[in-house]
Amino acid sequence: MPADANPSGDIFGGWVLSQMDIAGGIHAGQRAQRRVATVAIEAMHFIRPVHIGDVLCVYAEAERVGRTSMAIRLEAWALRKRLGDRVKVTEGIFTFVALDVEGRPTPIAEAS
Ligand SMILES: CC(C)(COP(=O)(O)OP(=O)(O)OC[C@H]1O[C@@H](n2cnc3c(N)ncnc32)[C@H](O)[C@@H]1OP(=O)(O)O)[C@@H](O)C(=O)NCCC(=O)NCCS
Repeated sequence: MPADANPSGDIFGGWVLSQMDIAGGIHAGQRAQRRVATVAIEAMHFIRPVHIGDVLCVYAEAERVGRTSMAIRLEAWALRKRLGDRVKVTEGIFTFVALDVEGRPTPIAEAS
């Protein structure tokens, strides 16, 4: 949307990053079966711009599951003008930590 863009019509990197953080948090929360927090973002790489009118698609995959943390590989793809070519615009690895009710790291349940 225009409110997410700079005067040149390109979407702010921070907006894209926040969508990826939301997607990664959903994925990590489902995996951990509890609340999670983002503890680190690394290897973030902006490859192509996102334009007003593009649809942003975010894909998540667990790269590493530790005792209380998970490294989630996230890729964002833009569907140009909603219907056109699909191009990879950004990728990065986000680390989430599973938290107990008091916000302390807590072990991640075994996958069923
Ligand atoms: C998440 C938080 C509770 C972790 O606390 P902590 O004292 O670092 O906890 P620990 O040292 O026990 O580490 C917990 C896990 O996180 C991992 N971790 C901690 N810092 C990390 C970093 N910078 N990069 C990658 N992993 C990290 C540890 O390796 C550990 O993983 P493991 O149990 O799978 O081996 C604390 O850092 C926090 O509250 N951060 C703020 C989170 C937040 O608000 N995020 C939103 C952004 S505003």
